[in-house]
Amino acid sequence: MPDVTLTTLNKLKQSGEKIVCLTAYDATFAHLECQAGVEVILIGDSLGMVLQGHDSTLPVTVDDMVYHTRSVKRGNRGALIMADLPFMSYATLEQAVSSSTALMQAGAHMVKLEGGGWLADTVTTLTRNGIPVCAHLGLTPQTVNVLGGYKVQGRDEAQAKALLDDARKLEAAGAAMLLLECVPSELGAEVTRSVQVPVIGIGAGSDTDGQVLVVHDLLGLSISGRLPRFVKNFMAGQPDVQSAVRAYVEAVKRVEFPSAEHEF
Ligand code: KIV
Ligand code: NA
Repeated sequence: MPDVTLTTLNKLKQSGEKIVCLTAYDATFAHLECQAGVEVILIGDSLGMVLQGHDSTLPVTVDDMVYHTRSVKRGNRGALIMADLPFMSYATLEQAVSSSTALMQAGAHMVKLEGGGWLADTVTTLTRNGIPVCAHLGLTPQTVNVLGGYKVQGRDEAQAKALLDDARKLEAAGAAMLLLECVPSELGAEVTRSVQVPVIGIGAGSDTDGQVLVVHDLLGLSISGRLPRFVKNFMAGQPDVQSAVRAYVEAVKRVEFPSAEHEF
């Protein structure tokens, strides 16, 4: 597979072929995911939960993200590497610039931040300085304490309109990609139609331009023994991890995942 760039992803959106994204936190998984055809590897701050055992993503630091980004970079074979800016690492423009610099120098090709239109200046500054930005909207786990729990977002009309507004503002500010988490499928489709940049979804229906999952969820691994509604255990019936990841890639490409049972 030739190196995946933003140009590749924009072409996929235009052609209607789904983009496959998956988290990885180390070299072995990064390598395995590339072999299976994953196009975008996300070093998610979900590592605070699945690797470190915290009950939220809030304790994750920029140093943690740098460590895992370096590891993923060594195993990567041509995927686009996206790294999360962790909690409170982009509260000011200065913080956003220094945190993003650290992630890019560790091997990321783009950074992801959580939040809406109020981050427009941040997105513009990073982009002008050579750092592409993905804006994560909908259920934003870093604000779980403000949201009052991990809940589906954009359910009523006012919330849906506000989210659509945020998406347009972030695109206008220069965001190269959007990520939508836990919103009704109809809203996922509307946002995807309303912007030119690729929209990756998790719990946002099958009409987004691509899908992302936490790799532990995909493999059916969970400390609590419960998996969220939008997750499918791709390990079921597969002989090995490589086959499970390949099954996920194929299911996304064929638009077989997500199906109605995984949607809101
Ligand atoms: O941290 C993460 O893994 C994420 C995905 C769930 C989108 O942000
Ligand atoms: Na994240």
